[in-house]
Formats: sequence, structure tokens, C-alpha cells
Amino acid sequence: MNGMVLLLGAGRGLGRSLLRFFLGQQVPVSCVTRTNDSLTSIRREFSKSQHGLKSEAFDLADRECTQSMIDSLAAGTNSAGFPVLVVYTAGFLSGRLNFLDEKISDIDREIEINFRAPLYWSWLLSRHFVERGKGGHVFISSGVAPTPRPHWGGYGIAKGALEALSAQLALDLPPPLYSLTLNPGGMATDMRRLAYPEEDPTTLPTADATGEKIGRFCLSLIRDGGRRVNGKRLQIGDLP
Ligand SMILES: NC(=O)c1ccc[n+]([C@@H]2O[C@H](COP(=O)([O-])OP(=O)(O)OC[C@H]3O[C@@H](n4cnc5c(N)ncnc54)[C@H](OP(=O)(O)O)[C@@H]3O)[C@@H](O)[C@H]2O)c1
Repeated sequence: MNGMVLLLGAGRGLGRSLLRFFLGQQVPVSCVTRTNDSLTSIRREFSKSQHGLKSEAFDLADRECTQSMIDSLAAGTNSAGFPVLVVYTAGFLSGRLNFLDEKISDIDREIEINFRAPLYWSWLLSRHFVERGKGGHVFISSGVAPTPRPHWGGYGIAKGALEALSAQLALDLPPPLYSLTLNPGGMATDMRRLAYPEEDPTTLPTADATGEKIGRFCLSLIRDGGRRVNGKRLQIGDLP
């Protein structure tokens, strides 16, 4: 399979599962994780895939680090080349509270991780995609974006803005470039446990199961291009 995937948020949950899936399919991946601990754990788990994996640890909201990673990808320092697909998996939920009771620092962080960071990354990356005539964005969204519900506060607002970002990119990117959002549905991850502590996780799909489904869809985007799904707001149930 030709083309490298850039995975933004690969430490835990869905991002880690997608990393596992892509490397298992021999798709080269560049990934960002937030902490050095998760970086070490990624390098340990995938020590046999070192040739196909480039991993870095920094906060995705750090614009200097973002610019420098994209510059180095554009300069061709990665033998796998420039990414043809970016999957924005990182997410942050402070908890499920009435919006009025949320701390403003938590709301700011939710907006920063779920929206402002993807905005900056996609704005920079899109310019390179245009230059190369190739590339697509898959933004991992949430069911609370199209259907706001009580107690999803800053997270819900940020995911709504993320879907607006993708819609704007879809309109402004020239063919064959593309952008879409995908709601992965409930998964047994740390974020879901925080949102629904009383829920039995064994009743939910695992992150690996959802990661495999989304990963196969991403392979089809790499193989056939994604313009046919440009601007879509997909649900996990829409995937084959
Ligand atoms: N779980 C669900 O049921 C569900 C449902 C709908 C939508 N989603 C969406 O699906 C995506 C994945 O969710 P998940 O359940 O896998 O979440 P998770 O278990 O909370 O994992 C979130 C991941 O994002 C990374 N991350 C957060 N902030 C970051 C930052 N500033 N820089 C780099 N990485 C950062 C975390 O890194 P660290 O490990 O370093 O903290 C972690 O790897 C999210 O966008 C979420 O909103 C999840």
C-alpha cells in the first residue's frame, strides 16, 4: 500500500488501536502522542515495526512543535514521505457536567484539543496537500456534534466546531483532496469510562474492534481516494 498515515493522538484508546491496525497492514505511520510514557510504551509494543513507524511526543496544541513536525515531513526526512491521510483521533473530555458548572479552564482545554489543534494542523497540512495534489483529513467526531445533549458542555461545542471545520475544508479543498468527519460510536476506552462510570464496558465494542473497522475504511481511502466521501459526516454504522 502506497502512502503514509499521520495519526494525531496515538497514546491510548482508538488512536492506539488504529496504530496497531495500520502497522499490522504494513502501512507506514507517523504518530504523535502526548506523554513520554505513552511514547515509550508505543516504541516497546511496536519495536518490530520500527522501519514503518515514526513517533514523537508533544502536546498537539503546541504550535511550534506542530510546525516543526510538518516542516520536517515536508523536507522529506521521513523515508515514507509526506502523509496521504491524517486521522485526528486525540480527544479530551473533562467530565459530564452541566455547561454552567464546568470550569472555564476545562472548557478552554476541550476547545483547544478537540477543535483548535485540529484546525491548525489541518490548515498547515492542507497547503502541502494542495502542492502535492494528494491528501485527505479524517476527523474523529462524536454523536453529540450533530445532536447536542445535556451535560456535554465544552466537548460538545468543540466537536460541533470540528464538524464545521471539516465542512469548510471539504468546500475549499480542490479535488482530489478531501475532508470528512466520522463518529466512532461508543467504545470501551478511558474517555467512555469517564463519561459513563456506571456502564459495563464489556457491553461496548472494544477500541481494537472499532479501530479495525475505521482502519479498513482508511485503507480504502488511501487506495481509491476519498473525494467520493468529501464533506460527509459519517457514523460508524455507515462503514462497510
Ligand atoms: N470512547 C468513546 O466512546 C467515543 C465516542 C465518540 C467519540 N469519541 C472520540 O474518539 C476519539 C478517541 O477517543 P478515545 O475514547 O480513544 O479517547 P481516550 O481513551 O481518552 O484517549 C484519548 C487520546 O488522545 C490523546 N490526547 C489527548 N490530548 C492530547 C494532546 N494534547 N496531544 C496529544 N495527544 C492527546 C491521549 O493521549 P495521552 O494518552 O497521552 O493522554 C489519548 O491517547 C476522540 O476524539 C473522542 O472524542 C470517543
